[in-house]
Amino acid sequence: MATAELAGKHLVLGMTGGIACYKIAELTRLLVKAGATVQVVMTEAATQFITPVTMQALSGRPVYTSQWDARVPNNMAHIDLSREADAIVIAPASTDFLAKLAHGMADDLLTTLCVARECPLLVVPAMNRQMWANPATQRNVAQLRADGVETLGPDSGPQACGEVGDGRMLEPEAVYEAIASFFAPKVLAGRRVLLTAGPTFEPIDPVRGITNRSSGKMGFALARAAQQAGADVHLVAGPVALDTPWGVFREDVQTAQQMHDAVMRAVPDYDIFIAVAAVADWRVDHASDHKIKKTVDHRLPSFTFVENPDILAAVARLPHPPFCVGFAAESGDLDVHGEEKRARKNVPLLIGNLGPLTFGRDDNEVVLFEASGQKKLPRADKQALASTLIAEIAKRLPDTSLIS
Ligand code: C5P
Repeated sequence: MATAELAGKHLVLGMTGGIACYKIAELTRLLVKAGATVQVVMTEAATQFITPVTMQALSGRPVYTSQWDARVPNNMAHIDLSREADAIVIAPASTDFLAKLAHGMADDLLTTLCVARECPLLVVPAMNRQMWANPATQRNVAQLRADGVETLGPDSGPQACGEVGDGRMLEPEAVYEAIASFFAPKVLAGRRVLLTAGPTFEPIDPVRGITNRSSGKMGFALARAAQQAGADVHLVAGPVALDTPWGVFREDVQTAQQMHDAVMRAVPDYDIFIAVAAVADWRVDHASDHKIKKTVDHRLPSFTFVENPDILAAVARLPHPPFCVGFAAESGDLDVHGEEKRARKNVPLLIGNLGPLTFGRDDNEVVLFEASGQKKLPRADKQALASTLIAEIAKRLPDTSLIS
């Protein structure tokens, strides 16, 4: 999540009756942390599962539960609340509530608010697997989708009732990601993005190897931003300790050669390639298949190195290359090396990390190198910077790579 990623967004968070209500406490915390204003509205049934006091404390705003709430001077809570909102999110959305929505019923504050809305409506279903599979529920959900309502989930897995199947509410983090994604500008709609991220690991023997200090954070942030911008995203990741961004297809590799092979297999299907990985330049010619032992006479082992393939240059050399973006981390003279590297690898855009090498940090400062010149972007946290970079990449895409 980028700092204040949802700043200025007003959400009505509607809660209906279901055990998944307890997960909404965490969702509220995530939304508030991202800068959103969260107005909680609960049905009578929802208050049986979690108290309005809890939701008020987490959202920092009074919770509404009744259409007849005397706090609203004009008694028009259903109109006022929905007019302030950029979106209404119903989580959890019960079987009964989905049925009411599908039929346009307005018999309490939350249903009335939904019917009176002018903003988008997102529902996050949560129910027992048989209730979800019931033809009536499926009919109602199909009707809601046809009416332009977004459904997030449900997930599959163990349920509170002890059964296993479809109907589980998405985890709060996944609901948060879907909401953030919903608000992101769709500058890469219809595009397909292939990325590399993280370090590579080049074995010396079964227990040792050569790697580097890349955390993978920038590459993962870009994968998330590209997904949020509407692209289909395939992320080829070296060994990193990061969760896969929501909605991104991830392929794990270890060595530069494996990363090269994975990219070359996938690349014909992609129209943008972003090489963020810190790929090892060399590998040991013949890795030992047993652990290399210390010798009694303290003789040092010696290794022969061979060069790894340059994945970015190889992709840029293809007869019909995707739009290629490279990254460069230098320990000095970025001005000179950045442009030289871009030209040598023959890519239209290269992003250079400014300042001292700072692995694993959550923020970054970069310069864009392209044939027409350089452009410095202000320091920002990696997720916010990733969204800016995706917008910069989108502006530079040739129209010919548009997918029809
Ligand atoms: O040559 P250098 O490693 O500085 O170049 C950096 C850019 O090239 C990055 O985008 C990196 O992902 C890519 N690269 C690559 N394969 C290599 C080395 C670098 O794709 N073997």
